[in-house]
Amino acid sequence: MALCKIFPFAFILLCCSCYLISGQRFDYPTANLSTTWINSVSAPHSVDFTDGSRVRAILLRGTFGPKYACGFYCNGNCDTYLFAIFIVQTNSASQITSPAIGFPQVVWSANRNNPVRINSTLQLTAQGDLVLRNADGTLAWSTNTAGKSVAGLSLTDEGNLVLFDSNNATVWQSFDHPTDALVPGQKLVSGMKLTASVSTTNWTKGGLFSLSAIDNGLVAFIESNPPQTYFDATIGGLDPSGGSNYVKYLDGSLTLFTNSSGTTELVLVSITPASSAQYMKLESNGHLKVYEWKNRWGEVDDLLTGFRGVCNYPTVCGRYGICTMGQCSCPKSSNSTTYFRPINVRLPNLGCSEAKKLSCNNLKKHRLLEVEDVDYFAFTADISNTDVNTCKRACLNKCSCKAAFFRSGLNSSRAIGECYLPTEIFSLMNNEKDKTRYDSVAFIKVQV
Ligand SMILES: *[C@@H]1O[C@H](CO)[C@@H](O)[C@H](O)[C@H]1NC(C)=O
Ligand SMILES: *[C@@H]1O[C@H](CO)[C@@H](O)[C@H](O)[C@H]1NC(C)=O
Ligand SMILES: *[C@@H]1O[C@H](CO)[C@@H](O)[C@H](O)[C@H]1NC(C)=O
Ligand SMILES: *[C@@H]1O[C@H](CO)[C@@H](O)[C@H](O)[C@H]1NC(C)=O
Ligand SMILES: *[C@@H]1O[C@H](CO)[C@@H](O)[C@H](O)[C@H]1NC(C)=O
Ligand SMILES: *[C@@H]1O[C@H](CO)[C@@H](O)[C@H](O)[C@H]1NC(C)=O
Ligand SMILES: *[C@@H]1O[C@H](CO)[C@@H](O)[C@H](O)[C@H]1NC(C)=O
Repeated sequence: MALCKIFPFAFILLCCSCYLISGQRFDYPTANLSTTWINSVSAPHSVDFTDGSRVRAILLRGTFGPKYACGFYCNGNCDTYLFAIFIVQTNSASQITSPAIGFPQVVWSANRNNPVRINSTLQLTAQGDLVLRNADGTLAWSTNTAGKSVAGLSLTDEGNLVLFDSNNATVWQSFDHPTDALVPGQKLVSGMKLTASVSTTNWTKGGLFSLSAIDNGLVAFIESNPPQTYFDATIGGLDPSGGSNYVKYLDGSLTLFTNSSGTTELVLVSITPASSAQYMKLESNGHLKVYEWKNRWGEVDDLLTGFRGVCNYPTVCGRYGICTMGQCSCPKSSNSTTYFRPINVRLPNLGCSEAKKLSCNNLKKHRLLEVEDVDYFAFTADISNTDVNTCKRACLNKCSCKAAFFRSGLNSSRAIGECYLPTEIFSLMNNEKDKTRYDSVAFIKVQV
């Protein structure tokens, strides 16, 4: 009984004295000019995680639970590092915890095209520039803010890294330079985009996929020439003179904010409401996934997967691969000629290679391989109200055309429909007529 009475008292006393005596915070969310951090083995706030990642935090805001920090980050053999913003688990003294489950989730990085090594430095110069240099002194990245009256650096509650001036106005912020992720509260102003990394292990930008905010919504596309759109959430009939529209990640949605007549907030995409820390990332396969912390990090949404399912992704079955309920196969001809072979028989999702490469030198040797009930994620009508033969001829007459796709009403004998003539072919998909309510046929150009 005596213990019970003493312990609560001792606990309260301990807590009070912490606050009263120190009166200080445990986190380290800001930095002053003329500060240098070295990516060295002995740097403070270094934590190794069991997934192979390592962080050396430079700034961290908040205590207890999932919080934003920025600093050096690596994963794998740790030859190279990013200067990144990541979410880590913290205890009541703002120490980074949970190395076996609270793996750092990178939501922004400065130098993904130019990773740095050990002993590299980040410097907030006396002139207000934030500069990342390799150990040999070569420049990896900078904010180019020297002479712009920067007074300090701060990582906000929302995960925005800000260089501010003496009036606390923002001079530079990471939210203006999105990489492949968005955090709640972050905006994509019309014209800004997320760009996926090459792969989960290669952070280099120049992955194929982008998600772009435009004046009337969001579009996801594969960066071909011209780009091919595989997802869009756009609002029709908006007055484009409204000014700089933006899409904001709110709790439960991606919402378009516009000054166009009438409505000013329009939900584009619904998201599972957050019960804890959440973020979204454009993955190297084109999926836009939402992750949430629920005792560990897990996926809660796959936002761009519409009613067509996984087959609607441009690289799901590689080039020329036909996706049918997630399974991949190569286009087959009705006669004995083989025009396409799987690149790897055991890995059909890598796509199909042409038996003979298409060459523009000899248009007479071009044929169209007819594949029934095949559709394409980026279908747009290059020719409307046309018939199937006109569509085929248009492709054969144009060297850059790689296939003719023809969509027409169910059982309409292809007398009238719409024709799409792409110049580059990614994955094809089976047309599920009961869902799409149209017929679709592909004529793929091959060399004989
Ligand atoms: C920044 O400078 C101010 C004023 O000199 C000081 O009070 C504060 O502790 C410094 N902050 C950091 C993070 O060093
Ligand atoms: C990093 O710097 C330290 C101290 O200067 C040095 O001992 C160490 O060898 C350096 N490490 C590498 C990988 O260059
Ligand atoms: C500076 O601005 C940030 C966010 O804009 C705010 O949280 C902070 O309290 C401001 N600081 C001062 C000293 O006004
Ligand atoms: C990462 O991808 C880029 C672009 O495809 C490539 O140039 C680079 O060699 C890759 N890096 C590694 C480490 O594989
Ligand atoms: C709408 O116009 C006001 C005033 O010009 C501006 O402050 C605001 O940022 C605009 N909102 C959007 C979404 O463009
Ligand atoms: C197979 O069909 C192609 C056109 O699709 C044609 O050019 C080729 O001659 C045919 N081969 C045979 C053996 O019939
Ligand atoms: C199209 O034809 C198929 C097979 O003949 C038939 O089952 C289907 O009901 C027809 N659809 C329409 C819309 O006429």
